Amino acid sequence: MAIDSREFRNALGRFATGVCVASARVDGQRHIGVTVNSFASVSLAPPLVLWSVQKNTEIAKVWDDATHYGISVLAQTQQEISNTYAKPGDHDIRSEHLSIGPMGLPLIKDTLAQFECRIVQRIDGGDHTILLAEVESMAIGADEAPLLFFSGQYRAIAN
Ligand SMILES: Cc1cc2nc3c(=O)[nH]c(=O)nc-3n(C[C@H](O)[C@H](O)[C@H](O)COP(=O)(O)O)c2cc1C
Repeated sequence: MAIDSREFRNALGRFATGVCVASARVDGQRHIGVTVNSFASVSLAPPLVLWSVQKNTEIAKVWDDATHYGISVLAQTQQEISNTYAKPGDHDIRSEHLSIGPMGLPLIKDTLAQFECRIVQRIDGGDHTILLAEVESMAIGADEAPLLFFSGQYRAIAN
């Protein structure tokens, strides 16, 4: 069966996800963030997570060089933050959003959960690269409703 790419996108969109900002420190000083919904848990022992980065975007080069990344899980009230770091071009983390984790990685402040991760493997995934990483530090934030993404739109938990 030939898979039509638009239909494939639509079908994948039926899988509801949370929304995160993946972050990295570049050249020891610049802090960049990208909105992602491919974040997933992988293993409890060792503690492994992943997300996949689109190849051939301007920001993709950052992830080629990165040894670590941060993940910040967005709350329902943080849709504007999601939009900010999904825009092509300027991915510098705004000072009002920035917090620095115990491992020195940039994170988004006041998020539902934060992880600082060391990349252990890069796996080729077609037009994406899967970044498998070991969690080295984490924090749980406020017990608030998450930002959800479903069928190409932001959603809220109904109850
Ligand atoms: C809800 C949502 C989820 C996204 N998930 C991913 C993702 O998992 N991986 C990825 O590489 N880009 C993802 N993107 C796209 C990036 O946020 C961003 O638009 C892209 O990296 C822009 O890159 P550029 O500045 O290099 O063009 C997502 C965007 C949105 C709005």
